[in-house]
Amino acid sequence: MVVGSVLVAGGTGYIGSFTALALLEADYKVVIVDSLYNSSKEVINRIELICGKRPEFYELDITDEAALDKVFDEHPDIDNVIHFAALKAVGESGEIPLEYYRVNVGGTISLLQSMTKHNVTNIVFSSSATVYGDATRFPNMIPIPEHCPIGPTNTYGRTKSTVEGMITDLIEAQRNNAKKRGEAGGEKWNAALLRYFNPAGAHPSGIMGENPLGVPYNLLPLLAQVAIGKREKLLVFGDDYASKDGTAIRDYIHVLDLAKGHLVALNYLRSNNPGVKAWNLGSGRGSTVFEMIKAFSKVVGRDLPYQVAERRQGDVLDLTANPSLANKELGWKTELTLEDACADLWKWTENNPEGYGQDPPKEFVEA
Ligand code: NAD
Ligand code: WQD
Repeated sequence: MVVGSVLVAGGTGYIGSFTALALLEADYKVVIVDSLYNSSKEVINRIELICGKRPEFYELDITDEAALDKVFDEHPDIDNVIHFAALKAVGESGEIPLEYYRVNVGGTISLLQSMTKHNVTNIVFSSSATVYGDATRFPNMIPIPEHCPIGPTNTYGRTKSTVEGMITDLIEAQRNNAKKRGEAGGEKWNAALLRYFNPAGAHPSGIMGENPLGVPYNLLPLLAQVAIGKREKLLVFGDDYASKDGTAIRDYIHVLDLAKGHLVALNYLRSNNPGVKAWNLGSGRGSTVFEMIKAFSKVVGRDLPYQVAERRQGDVLDLTANPSLANKELGWKTELTLEDACADLWKWTENNPEGYGQDPPKEFVEA
């Protein structure tokens, strides 16, 4: 029995693929659209190997509204969208800002327009903790609650806060128009703005994980490259922060927990018709860079080399979530630990040193 149908934009990417898997396991029909700009089609096979169900896939660019229209036309049962498709490299966003606005903002406009034409009225949007910027500039805002004023400090973050504002404006307009002019359908528009903290980890089977096509820039994928011998050492960006060991604090969340967060947020929209809601998806636990090196070294079984370097421009001291709103309203909280994330990432890395560019281990294909 199918409980609903979801278009997952950016669904072959890291978080999108885990969410597609969680949706299929919860008996949703899943249609993925992705340009494969930063992902591989092989992930569709891996999803099927894990859950025995295969999502439908269309290779298209999110800025191509006509291509999106065609997918909605072919699947009139789609009544929800989860939108991951975006460019996400913070440093690069400062170098080619218009490209980031074109894809992240322009792509979302195409998607919302196509949704409007096809009466698809629920959207779950991948926002980011980066929209808060430096929350330590306010008293008592660590751990960060959703009512912390937003103030992104980089172009990527500004594309995310722009899209949050745009989705909020659209939903208010649709609901107001329904009330004032009696336009049918507008009262059903809902959005979940999910502000993720630092996603980490892989599938415990070892056959699905993060597979960035270029050079990774996030801490754990870089540490994994050190461990597998692709990189000599990790550069620690600053040990002069006001934390217990001088390195910056982040809230790392296992990607399986994050994927479940999307499922419960979508279910909440469908059952409660709440309009726009923003939720933090984080564990509420902060870890320093040194603590992460220690945790990952432990699962690898040896000390990983690092060297302290200058602070990275734009980094902030502490991004730890206060996830109580999601705990209370969605009944969601993280269940997996940092140690689980490290162990699963290491298994994925050892099994797939070339990511999805190689066949899955034999036992999965023969099973
Ligand atoms: P990812 O790069 O693995 O996934 C994004 C997907 O979007 C990729 O498959 C890529 O091919 C696709 N895409 C990019 N441009 C496209 C276009 N023009 N048309 C169609 N598809 C396109 O990244 P991810 O880590 O899975 O992130 C998913 C979402 O979550 C993004 O919106 C990202 O900004 C957001 N986010 C990520 C993190 C993180 O640390 N990974 C944290 C907070 C928020
Ligand atoms: C984590 C910590 C670094 C690399 C970014 C985006 C955010 C979100 C998640 C998308 C920081 C330190 C890192 C290295 C290091 N993405 N570090 N050496 O910066 O918290 O968040 O990814 O939305 O928007 O900004 O994540 O993994 O890059 O860094 O010392 O080689 O590790 O300084 O303290 P970040 P990260």
